[in-house]
Amino acid sequence: MTILAPSILSADFTNLAQQIKLVELNGADWIHCDIMDGHFVPNITFGPILVNAAKRSTKLPVDVHLMIEKPDNYLEDFINAGANYVTVHQEEVIHLNRTVTKIKELGAKAGVAINPATPVDLLKDIAEYIDLVLVMSVNPGFGGQKFIGNSLKKIREAVQLRDKLNAHFLIEVDGGVDKHTASSILDAGCDVFVAGSSIFKADNISAATAELKNLITN
Ligand code: DX5
Ligand code: ZN
Repeated sequence: MTILAPSILSADFTNLAQQIKLVELNGADWIHCDIMDGHFVPNITFGPILVNAAKRSTKLPVDVHLMIEKPDNYLEDFINAGANYVTVHQEEVIHLNRTVTKIKELGAKAGVAINPATPVDLLKDIAEYIDLVLVMSVNPGFGGQKFIGNSLKKIREAVQLRDKLNAHFLIEVDGGVDKHTASSILDAGCDVFVAGSSIFKADNISAATAELKNLITN
């Protein structure tokens, strides 16, 4: 079963609860929260306070993507705020096994994200311990960017890695997911589809959500 995870990065924050309700009513399965600190990525977004506001606006699982330096310092804050999934960047965490263990000890599911130029193979010794691999299909920092084509190869490599290790992680793709890229991402083996601007910048958020959900439902 594939999962649609709208990213609130592109939502209208003056009306966040209503925007979340719209996607929830039209097929969204998770709510994706893009946390940026202006250091790991050039943009700054929001922290645990807003994750908690999102959590209180939905019954859906909240999927927190930490594009921040020193994520270990904030795991408890985000999980206490209501994060069900917490994803850290492989490029940022030196003691990744310890971080993944801590996320799970705190009661959340653990994800590891890789940037477009980071090989899937770097995950081979953490793969069996994690619940989610996030393949970034844009350079992290901003919504509305173009899907990077070789991400399809990386999704397939992640599927092969999971099969080879008999691991259980879900494969998530984040960046440039829209009605034009959805089917090739689905064919490559993606489980969780993060979509920000193609949903929240659409003229009709409800219709865009339903359309994308339909396209990814195999
Ligand atoms: C990258 C962010 C974005 C966001 C989705 O920094 O993680 O990828 O979730 O953005 P869209 O769907 O607008 O490309
Ligand atoms: Zn994200």
